[in-house]
Amino acid sequence: MGDSLTVTDNRNGKTYEIPIRDGAINAFDLRQIKTSPDDFGLMSYDPAYKNTASCKSRITYIDGDQGILRYRGYPIEQLAESMTYLECAQLLLEGELPAKDSYDKFAHEVTYHTFVHENVKRFMHGFRYDAHPMSMFISAVAALSSFYPEAAEVGDAEVRRRQIIRLIAKVPTLAAFAYRHTQGLPYVYPSNELSYTGNFLAMVFKMSESRYVPNPTLERAFDVLFILHADHEQNCSTSTMRQVGSSRVDPYTSLAAAAGALYGPLHGGANAEVLYMLEKIGRKENVPDFIRKVKSKEAMLMGFGHRVYRNYDPRARIIKKLAHEVFQVTGMNPLLDIALELERIALEEDYFVQRKLYPNVDFYSGLIYQAMRFPTEFFPVLFAIGRTVGWLAQWEEMVTDDEQKIARPRQLYLGHDVRDFKPFAQRG
Ligand code: CMC
Repeated sequence: MGDSLTVTDNRNGKTYEIPIRDGAINAFDLRQIKTSPDDFGLMSYDPAYKNTASCKSRITYIDGDQGILRYRGYPIEQLAESMTYLECAQLLLEGELPAKDSYDKFAHEVTYHTFVHENVKRFMHGFRYDAHPMSMFISAVAALSSFYPEAAEVGDAEVRRRQIIRLIAKVPTLAAFAYRHTQGLPYVYPSNELSYTGNFLAMVFKMSESRYVPNPTLERAFDVLFILHADHEQNCSTSTMRQVGSSRVDPYTSLAAAAGALYGPLHGGANAEVLYMLEKIGRKENVPDFIRKVKSKEAMLMGFGHRVYRNYDPRARIIKKLAHEVFQVTGMNPLLDIALELERIALEEDYFVQRKLYPNVDFYSGLIYQAMRFPTEFFPVLFAIGRTVGWLAQWEEMVTDDEQKIARPRQLYLGHDVRDFKPFAQRG
């Protein structure tokens, strides 16, 4: 017997032995369960993939009940404390903490791919002055595909690596261009002598100074924020990356699709929604009334809840602490008081306790971004920069996984049986 499941089909009394491997049954093993030879066989029905593993992965581990997050086995708390984002990127991509010379080479490669073709600036100019920066970012990432036609060689490991380096290097440049466009400011070219996050801050905030010197606290804060957002296993956007990439389209196109999924208010767009919510609440005294509306389903408490975490999101804990460090440089964000009060009341209320709703990564990140003077619409773009490496690590794992094929779910067809077409005159 061993690790297996005995299933009895009560329609005909037949029994099947289904192996259990790695804590799962293979959904395809259900197909043998039939009532007649021309029966299609049993499928599993799982809208929103609540209990379906779509891949085997060795990148990120989450224990949602315990509130544990690890990249390649390393606890997120240790990584956020000790490494740069690029070091984390290499860990996610390659599986091990890089040796110093390997890291220097990787950082050098990324640094020297930060420039984008001049034409990118021109089509960025084509957007309206009030275009949403996430929309510009997604379009620009998709457009990169046309600049690197070799990227279509998805089966070639060296070509893949080149695109991975390019994407990690160029997403901050595209993001910064989108920001400068919405502010009506000239685009700033990358500075190769700055760190990954320092360069990003320079491309966003540099004005007339000849040399921009990033504030070390803010530079470090972005390393931490990007690390915390770097990967989160099979979330909506990462699954999109894998799903679109499974058609063997180039990674720019897949990544644009993934960024599109991230844009939604239930996913990466939630960091902006939290800010809109806090601004609408306006004052700490209004919090109990807002909580009442949430409990009566008239409103959602954005930045709360998670499909996997049924405990405090470990990233939220780190971000909450980071916020205080950032506010020492930027000054306090007055919305923090409202956020703290929301959290305090929500964690005591039955509605949230029973549903195991806790703050997620998006609850406090927006307060930091706002204190740094980023416009609210820009927040999901900041999420996308950090998540780029996770999308790419997962894409690489999918492309090199022999068990993967083009993603193609089944459906339970509940529509009409065959019927004859009727011209207009015969329709009721
Ligand atoms: N505010 C109020 N009620 C909530 C919330 C919330 N934020 N989240 C879940 N619930 C309720 C929900 O209405 C449901 O109640 P009931 O049992 O009475 O129908 C119950 O909790 C279970 O929720 P669910 O919708 O089944 O949970 P899900 O796993 O499908 O959704 C979620 C997860 C993250 C989409 C959802 O919690 C949500 O919409 N949260 C707000 C948006 C948000 O903060 N998103 C960021 C997620 S973390 C970062 C990321 O992945 O991008």
